[in-house]
Amino acid sequence: MKTVRKAVLPVAGLGTRVLPAAKTTPKNLLNVFDRPILAHVVAEARAAGIEHFVFVTGRGQTAIEDYFDQQFELETQLEAKGKSEILADIRAELGQPGAMSFVRQMAPRGLGHAVWCARDIVGDEPFAVILPDMLMRAQPPALAQAIAAFEAVGGNIVVVESAPPGEAHKYGIVALGETTRGFDGRLAHMTGMVEKPPPGTEPSNLFISGRYVLQPEIFELLANQGAGAGGEIQLTDAMVRLMATQRFHALTFDGTTYDCGDKIGLLEANVAFALAHPELGAEARAAVERLLRR
Ligand code: G1P
Repeated sequence: MKTVRKAVLPVAGLGTRVLPAAKTTPKNLLNVFDRPILAHVVAEARAAGIEHFVFVTGRGQTAIEDYFDQQFELETQLEAKGKSEILADIRAELGQPGAMSFVRQMAPRGLGHAVWCARDIVGDEPFAVILPDMLMRAQPPALAQAIAAFEAVGGNIVVVESAPPGEAHKYGIVALGETTRGFDGRLAHMTGMVEKPPPGTEPSNLFISGRYVLQPEIFELLANQGAGAGGEIQLTDAMVRLMATQRFHALTFDGTTYDCGDKIGLLEANVAFALAHPELGAEARAAVERLLRR
């Protein structure tokens, strides 16, 4: 079985729910405690063994490329000032030469279209898709859980979790069949999927939450995928077609997800990551408690 080495990160979205913060800063570079959302997500993917990152970007997002590039002046100054700890932190986040690719989506035609834009760079191997604004905290990290499931059962893996009551229609929703042995009963054969089902028609309350392992055959289907929900080319619709010939499993995520494409989700992520910070967590807790007592 081929290993999962590449991850596609669709980042071209306008971030309308987090405006005006996302007006001049790409939404995935907005801050979560001490670094941008994307830095947290890239760390999660590296911990899962991802070697090559394919960012599908839009106009005005060159700051993403710069974030993962060496900043010679900054590094030299930190070195001269003896700030070795932060320097090491900054260097650890950098992309490896040639192991980050940036492709332009050119038009906002939907998640399926964004993933399709990565086809030439991914080539003929299974790959991960990460929706970076869904920031996940878990041990092992979310993508590592998905890749472990892939290594156990092959095919395609979609990470899912329970939608809050009344919210399922905002997401891609899955229908499940038999549960696979192991994985604490969290891995199940998938029998269906639907993108943004009208309220009341959802096959379950389990929504697609933003980590996938997919086979490269998805690209051929995305190439001629018609517009679906919201008039966009939906990844979910192409996955439904791939289900005709390949196996899909849903892995119910064991951890917490923060929707950073939303103001309250972003706030929650900031507090959660601050509280969990190994050095600053205790101080962060004291600050939050102070605030709540006021
Ligand atoms: C996308 C996917 C959807 C998924 C959601 C998670 O939708 O199409 O299946 O549930 O992300 O955030 P979007 O949020 O882009 O409308």
